[in-house]
Amino acid sequence: MTDTLSLDFHKLFGRKPRLFRAPGRVNLIGEHTDYNDGFVMPAAIQFATWAAAAPRHDRAVRVHSINLGATIEFSLDHRGAAPTRTWQDYVQGVALQIEKEGHTLHGADLLIRGDVPLGSGLSSSASLEVATARALLACSSIDLPPLAIARLCQRAEVEFVGMRCGIMDQFASCFGEEGQALLLDCRTLEHEYLPLPQGASLVVANTMVKHELASSAYNDRRQVCESAARTAGVTHLRDLHSADIARWLPHWGAAIGRRARHTITENERVQSAAAALREGRLEDFGALMYASHESLRDDYEVSCPELDTMVELARAAPGVYGSRMTGGGFGGCTISLVRGDAVAAFTARLATGYQAATSLAPAIFVCHAVAGAREEAAA
Ligand code: GLA
Repeated sequence: MTDTLSLDFHKLFGRKPRLFRAPGRVNLIGEHTDYNDGFVMPAAIQFATWAAAAPRHDRAVRVHSINLGATIEFSLDHRGAAPTRTWQDYVQGVALQIEKEGHTLHGADLLIRGDVPLGSGLSSSASLEVATARALLACSSIDLPPLAIARLCQRAEVEFVGMRCGIMDQFASCFGEEGQALLLDCRTLEHEYLPLPQGASLVVANTMVKHELASSAYNDRRQVCESAARTAGVTHLRDLHSADIARWLPHWGAAIGRRARHTITENERVQSAAAALREGRLEDFGALMYASHESLRDDYEVSCPELDTMVELARAAPGVYGSRMTGGGFGGCTISLVRGDAVAAFTARLATGYQAATSLAPAIFVCHAVAGAREEAAA
């Protein structure tokens, strides 16, 4: 990837670039908890967005995407730019955000290529944002710590793209470590690395569907959580425990109560899952994954028939500890924890079963946890 990207950059822009890689992520457990100040457990994965970049002498940013075969260009001086509802928003949003935070950027030429499946719940957007941020900052000799990069990318997505996401995806892309999952407290941003188990694999299965609802439903869920927290007199649902649910349910009403119950119980599941992982109790970890899926399906209502089918197929297969949807929902991927010696048979069975049920051919792969975003040596 690095060799040809440098050469392609040279052909297109006539000079030698620096190279930056920012990975996507998979979330093991802790879904729709990050914006409630709660806990999540993602891992950065082998799929990434790469940006080759070199500074310009003016304030233009020109970006070519190899995947999309498209070029965009904008001026850093166009501060009032409106979002275009295309991939340009992720790049321009990040550039605008860096300047909003008081840094002055040089213009830059960027060549971008990625292999994070788009719109599949594996954070293709966060990886594009983080790769862009690293590239633009480096072209202007601005050195920011990974936490500042994760935060500014999240703010770009919230403020410019209009998706009121939490910090999980950008944080995982910046802070991943090889072979480790990340237990993150989204309130304090304290985090702990948890070694992934030997002898078991994380298998990701892409349903190949993406239902349109996703971003409007996402912002809607977030708003409901905020209102549930206000009713209960706390700043975030993170501050409530399952013992508090019965007390607040009459005030919330059934619909809001279900959303709040998901968030509150999911936070507790993350903590139990972390303990199970530390102690090598994979059956317990797997049971929590199934429980998370059921809660997302029934209480939070962000699953869809294709995700449910994939999870049920996993549940019926030998050697599977647990399975659940991963990411925002309404399509995208499931993640299953599978005994090492059962992975090959599991993958084959899942592919056949899913295709028979939906007429769609799923993409299935074993995930490896990798290091977070960094500069890579150019060829
Ligand atoms: C998306 C958002 C994250 C998180 C997940 C759901 O990936 O970008 O911040 O809220 O959905 O867990």
